[in-house]
Amino acid sequence: MQYNPATDIEKIIVSEAEIETQVKRLGKMISADYADTDADLVCVGMLNGAAIFFSDLVRRIETCPIVFDFMRASSYGDGTVSSERVVIERDLSVDINEKHLLLIEDIVDSGITMKHILEYLRHKNPRPASIKVCALLSKPSRRRVEVPIDYLGLEVPDEFLIGYGMDYAKKYRNLPYIGVLKREIYDENVKR
Ligand code: PRP
Repeated sequence: MQYNPATDIEKIIVSEAEIETQVKRLGKMISADYADTDADLVCVGMLNGAAIFFSDLVRRIETCPIVFDFMRASSYGDGTVSSERVVIERDLSVDINEKHLLLIEDIVDSGITMKHILEYLRHKNPRPASIKVCALLSKPSRRRVEVPIDYLGLEVPDEFLIGYGMDYAKKYRNLPYIGVLKREIYDENVKR
């Protein structure tokens, strides 16, 4: 496959400037909400897609001490939509006892990954003090299970998105904007 982001994308759907606006807005909301907490805020980035959003967002949270951690979950299915089977491939590595958890995702699509992660974390022992979710993007038209998104950037239409952490065939994650991949670049058995 020839790699040329400039011609592989149909359009930019979220510009760098809009991403920055959303990251600042979300950072302000989170900063305000956790300003009076005594416990650490454990920011959990969902690998790999949330890596870039995570690193931008945590730099905008200014009112409480932050601990970093990362999880990775993969879903397995027929490739056209997220399947029901979610496997946690990387678990938390820090102490979450009585800590506030903020799960940071690039996108909530069917909701199946986040629902599974939330159920898993709610049954952890020892328990966190609270669990909230921050997602840069949501595709409501693709939702199969409801999940709470406490801090949401933007709702987006059901298109194949790449950039700012999101990939096609493991590439394009480093694009500084979010674009729609041209249909001719991907085959039909894709998830996003
Ligand atoms: C993407 C995204 C979410 C998940 C959302 O991850 O980062 O974790 O899909 O989909 P869902 O709401 O339908 O469950 P993906 O599995 O593509 O892996 P990645 O983060 O490594 O890109």
